Amino acid sequence: MKDGEKKTYYITTPIYYPSSNLHIGHTYCTVMADAMARFKRLQGYDVRFQTGTDEHGQKIQKKAEEAGVTPQEFVDKVVAGIKDLWATMEISYDDFLRTTEERHVKRVQQMFMKMYEKGDIYKSVYEGLYCTPCESFWTESQLVDGKCPDCGRPVEKANEEAYFFRLSKYGDKLLDLYETHPEFLQPDTRRNEMSAFIRQGLEDLCISRTSFDWGIPVPIDTKHVIYVWLDALANYLTTLGYPDDPELYNKYWPADVHLVGKEIVRFHSIIWPAMLMSMELPLPKQVLGHGWLLIDGGKMSKSKGNVVDPVTLIDRYGIDALKYFLLREYTFGQDGVFTNEVMLKRMNFDLANDLGNLVSRTVTMIEKYCGGTVPAAEYEDELDKELMETAVGAADKVEAQMDKFAFNMALEEIWVVVRRANKYVDEKMPWVLAKDEARKPELDTCMHHLAEALRVVSVLIYPFMHTTTMKIREQIGAEGEIAWADAYRFDLMAGCKVKRGEAIFPRLDIEKELAELEAMKQKSMKEAQEKNGAAQAEESVPLELKPEIEFSDFDKCDFRVATILEAKKHPDADKLLVFKVKMGTEIRQIVSGVAKIFKPEELVGKKVVVVANLKPRQLRGVESKGMILFAESGERFELVSTSAEDGNSVR
Ligand code: MSP
Repeated sequence: MKDGEKKTYYITTPIYYPSSNLHIGHTYCTVMADAMARFKRLQGYDVRFQTGTDEHGQKIQKKAEEAGVTPQEFVDKVVAGIKDLWATMEISYDDFLRTTEERHVKRVQQMFMKMYEKGDIYKSVYEGLYCTPCESFWTESQLVDGKCPDCGRPVEKANEEAYFFRLSKYGDKLLDLYETHPEFLQPDTRRNEMSAFIRQGLEDLCISRTSFDWGIPVPIDTKHVIYVWLDALANYLTTLGYPDDPELYNKYWPADVHLVGKEIVRFHSIIWPAMLMSMELPLPKQVLGHGWLLIDGGKMSKSKGNVVDPVTLIDRYGIDALKYFLLREYTFGQDGVFTNEVMLKRMNFDLANDLGNLVSRTVTMIEKYCGGTVPAAEYEDELDKELMETAVGAADKVEAQMDKFAFNMALEEIWVVVRRANKYVDEKMPWVLAKDEARKPELDTCMHHLAEALRVVSVLIYPFMHTTTMKIREQIGAEGEIAWADAYRFDLMAGCKVKRGEAIFPRLDIEKELAELEAMKQKSMKEAQEKNGAAQAEESVPLELKPEIEFSDFDKCDFRVATILEAKKHPDADKLLVFKVKMGTEIRQIVSGVAKIFKPEELVGKKVVVVANLKPRQLRGVESKGMILFAESGERFELVSTSAEDGNSVR
């Protein structure tokens, strides 16, 4: 870095799929990145904050077909909505990259060629199960009853030419990276998961498709399009002009932080660094995996109608209240449950009561006791000193928490000051001081210190709630630019003129709000159900099923509830897990082919449904007595679970 140049800070969000409007979960990630970008700017960094949309791939192409528009028309519409949302929320990104933009497309192709020329991309044969009418390849586990999951027709073994990336070559280098730079992937639990995944052995990655064409053509073979994740991950570099216009690249790369949700950590901590190693480029300093916001005990889902729409909440409560709630309530890295009640309580207690009240009582008292001008402080006692020290000591604590991405704790440190100031009012009792002319210096100091404490708070909250910062400063009459260094000072307010305004956060009637939000939710769930029902009525195409059976055939099966007592890997088969299950009085062993999907320890203690009277058989030399039921779910399986007693019948 040259003398006088600012230190740079490059932070990214994932680029979102424009398959439908974004919900509160997506908003959560972007709000965190925005707060960090604003915080670093305030600390004097030259910040680059990158976001955008991931617009290619088969899913988007299908959605567009269903909507009867071209993929480009489809994404243009959704992306406009996403940009509107970020504009409403005043998200301070520096670039919004769309993967359909020419600047991105050409650079992804250039990057493909770099890896190809390095010898890390090669053409081979992709083997899979092919559905001819759908022109799609499937893996064994994706099939439904052995048939194509899309149309229900039979599939056949087939192979096609495809390009592969030599991911297998980078396993040891990645493990070495995690070992020597544990900070590269945080939290630690995510890094341990990824290490375990790599240790099982990395296979080369198929990085081209010919079954659809909504993607970036492989430059040397244009009937192939580039795998959507390769295309998407490249955004972090193409936005910087890499490789053909490297000015921004030279300035900002390597990224300081890629902020991503936990389910896409794998792509960012394995595929992305391997691509960069192949291109011989520096690696990002850190990948941070955050948890999920859950609702009703699970994922938000459009089809259930339980997604929380950030726009509704902003309309009712304002941007800053929503941002405060998201940043204050949840612990980085962990999942959190979203409920209206928790949100409304936070807004009422922390914002309306603690902060809002402090502003309004301070301004009212300065008007009443000091003619509206903040007095100088000539007097000082222990309480005054304590308030001052708490306020000017907060910035360091906030910084320490922000270094750890602990947004909730950073805000908590600020609220220590807010609560201390409110308590100070109760202890000082200015209304008593005002009755005694001899205690005027004490009263003046009290008013001065409250104004200073609020000014310090206005600086500290700026990265999280910049509009509220401005509202507070207008009311207390603070002047000048917002500067982090001013959070360490306590001598800037004397002589400022206060101006009473509206409550910065109006008090909410929680019962009434809860009822209204619930009514809105019920309405959208009903609409979703009707829509799904209607869709079913319109599109009901009978599935190709196995031949019909008599009730007496069904009645031969004995399904039972079982508790998994133990799960471990099969000694001779990678795909198999060996379970000990308890069914009422009986304990038995069952072998299932789910080792690639579940870690043994995540299944212990779960209640499952078992076909209990299936004839025992040997699976790779281990006896299996019965079968555990799993529901196929995309490339995964889910347990078919129940809370009934083990041993009970399932009919
Ligand atoms: N397009 C890919 C990312 C490519 S980055 C090179 C993608 N898009 S996504 O729209 O499905 O998800 C984007 C981000 O939103 C992910 O980090 C994901 O974890 C996050 N979230 C989606 N739902 C979420 C919650 N309910 N809660 C928190 N974050 C969640 O994946």
